[in-house]
Amino acid sequence: MAFPIQRLRRLRQHEGFRRMVRETSLSPADFIYPLFVVEGRNRREEIVSMPGQFRLSVDLLVKEAGEIAALGIPGIILFGIPDRKDAKGSSGYDPNGIVQRAVKAVKDHAPGLMVVTDVCIDEYTDHGHCGVVKDGRILNDETLDCLRAMALTHAQAGADMVAPSDMMDGRVAAIRSELDQAGFTELPIMAYAAKFASCFYAPFRDAAFSSPQFGDRQSYQMDPANRREALREIALDVEEGADIIMVKPALPYLDIIAAAREQILLPVAAYQVSGEYSMIKAAAKAGWLDESRAMMESLLSIKRAGADLILTYFAKDAARLLH
Ligand code: PBG
Repeated sequence: MAFPIQRLRRLRQHEGFRRMVRETSLSPADFIYPLFVVEGRNRREEIVSMPGQFRLSVDLLVKEAGEIAALGIPGIILFGIPDRKDAKGSSGYDPNGIVQRAVKAVKDHAPGLMVVTDVCIDEYTDHGHCGVVKDGRILNDETLDCLRAMALTHAQAGADMVAPSDMMDGRVAAIRSELDQAGFTELPIMAYAAKFASCFYAPFRDAAFSSPQFGDRQSYQMDPANRREALREIALDVEEGADIIMVKPALPYLDIIAAAREQILLPVAAYQVSGEYSMIKAAAKAGWLDESRAMMESLLSIKRAGADLILTYFAKDAARLLH
């Protein structure tokens, strides 16, 4: 029974019908907003390659946190930009480091806002890699010690969830056991499970001054060509004790999000990364795209593919539109 009996346009004639049969909807509760925190006071530096995003000092970050909570966004994820970098990224697991102080301040000021921390040493290493380097190679097991220490100091500072983004093998299990031994058995881990070696991180590396000083990240981040391997990464992180798994980037990897949603029962997060944000911003600035519509369509597509949560620099703008 096809045409002329079947006419799909019947239910597209009125906004009322369209609303009735709409299959996917966005809510501010879907979003996690990424924020960059720097040393100092009263600092608010716009990131050139990410218009509308800022590096904030802790005093301004807490104000921002209040606004985010008021918009109905349930959480933020913090990235630290330290003054001091070294080979092992030790400022990243200093109990008094920039993120650790930022977490405390935000939890004091906006206790209801969930504070997630990015666990990875690349922002804190002088070579810019996500692991300990020896003879030009990124060492896996040695890096796990740094990640354990980092996750623990974030937990001690009051973080509500930790999110390892380094792509070392075994990091979820290592962090889980470290947290459990220290009594943080209830603290969830959101694993950047399928994180691809993507060119779309470029504006973020600009923002966080975290570009690798030699080579690239292809020996630890995933090959964009590999779907089955992404599912293995996800399955391993689930086995190691992840509470939420993440796919990153989002829009170029909707098939991975959809496959993850089908194969596993955990909540699935997707990270609409800096390059995805900046492309829309740049095209809108040139007058080539309607910024709000491009933003909402891309977020809706990520949700439709199966993401329960979206980490996005558009979180505030989208939440405002949804109110
Ligand atoms: C690593 C990390 C990166 C991003 C999040 N965590 C950068 C990288 O892997 O180079 C990128 C996020 C974005 O592009 O918005 N700490």
